Amino acid sequence: MRIVVIGVGHVGLVTALTLCRLGHDVVGLDDDVAKIADLRHRRLPFFEEGLDQLFEEGCASGRLQFSEDPCEAIPGGDVAFICVGTPGRPTGEPNLVAVENAANLVGKWASRDMVVVEKSTVPVQTAERIQVMLGRSSTHRFAVASNPEFLREGCAVEDSLFPNRILVGTNSCEAHEIMRRIYRPMIESGARYFATDAATAELAKHACNAFLALKVSFVNALGRVCEAAGGDVVAVADIMGADPRIGRQFLDAGVGFGGSCFPKDLAAFRAQSLRLGYRFGLLGWVVEKVRAALWNLEGKRVVLLGLTFKPGTDDTRESPALRVARSLVEAGARVTGCDPKAAADALEGMGDLAVTSDPYAAAAGAHCLVVCTEWPEYAALDLARLRDLMALPIIVDGRNVLDPAAAAEAGFTYLPTGRPARGVGR
Ligand code: UDX
Repeated sequence: MRIVVIGVGHVGLVTALTLCRLGHDVVGLDDDVAKIADLRHRRLPFFEEGLDQLFEEGCASGRLQFSEDPCEAIPGGDVAFICVGTPGRPTGEPNLVAVENAANLVGKWASRDMVVVEKSTVPVQTAERIQVMLGRSSTHRFAVASNPEFLREGCAVEDSLFPNRILVGTNSCEAHEIMRRIYRPMIESGARYFATDAATAELAKHACNAFLALKVSFVNALGRVCEAAGGDVVAVADIMGADPRIGRQFLDAGVGFGGSCFPKDLAAFRAQSLRLGYRFGLLGWVVEKVRAALWNLEGKRVVLLGLTFKPGTDDTRESPALRVARSLVEAGARVTGCDPKAAADALEGMGDLAVTSDPYAAAAGAHCLVVCTEWPEYAALDLARLRDLMALPIIVDGRNVLDPAAAAEAGFTYLPTGRPARGVGR
């Protein structure tokens, strides 16, 4: 099968390489000329565990191409996967202009009947809109299918190669047949295949993300109640998680959720809740904790351990750490960011902020450390060494990664999330 993947960002590139591994001829199309040039020179535009190997494999197969030119990429294609970005508008609704433009390109350049697949997360009834649009712009016949991704950054390659479910929603029997053919090796090795209508698939993707975000939001709120009442949110989550109907995953209270999906997918809900008088704000919590520990923030040096929205990625989009950084800077603190993977310019535009990958160098002379991302290396920090380097021994653990007893023993004032503080008053 000849497949055109439009948009080679996090989702599109992983999708393109997966489709190539499945034996298809794949062209990755993107209007970012620099990105296409990088890919042609075998350079990956971002870090993702295992992606380099899959990329090398794809390049070596002879079935993988990249292009910035739709008139080169689209004609001859059987299927087009739309993987372009859907950034949030100020109202919370996603901006679907890039999806519309991608569909327009397919309509303009298709040389035969095609299946057009939405991979980007889009609101329900987008497939319908694309169908109407294509009907207006081309004489070829198009079937539109929704095939949402369930990729977690950091495990995207594994999730893509070994999916626990494949969801395809389309109102065309022919398109269902073609999509089954595309994914046949995965279906044969046990991936559960859900065939639905387009609207159901679009809704299911939103429902999954909203529900997971709801779990995290719930446990974050619970953390605040635990702190106020002197309980331990980690123990409460363990007890809740022992009930198989609830499950332990996504019950880790912390500094807030980030990334390119949850915040955006929930923005619509958030906008509405704000209008109704409920504010889903959690970040002030961390900043207020730092302020309570340090009193005036002006002139104080605060180190953020972790800038990415979660470990295992270099992605800082919508990362709570950056929002914490911004608030601290606004309050007059001097902020140093520390992260093993985030780009050195992650804090760009936030004043004269330094980013380093060495937590000990960052801690020298600091008044407070704030753990924003649960990188495994932060759980293994030499606490005694850190304490000796710092101007004040204070840790705000926004991810509950450190052992509270060890932190207290090392002489820190340790302020975790939703758990009792240790060593206060030192
Ligand atoms: C998510 C979905 O998991 C994936 O299925 C979907 O396709 C895309 O969106 P991703 O954005 O990669 O994937 O991140 P995920 O691992 O789900 O974490 C999202 C955020 O929630 C992170 O900031 C993470 O730190 C936070 N989180 C998660 C918590 O704060 N507590 C938890 O218990 C779990």
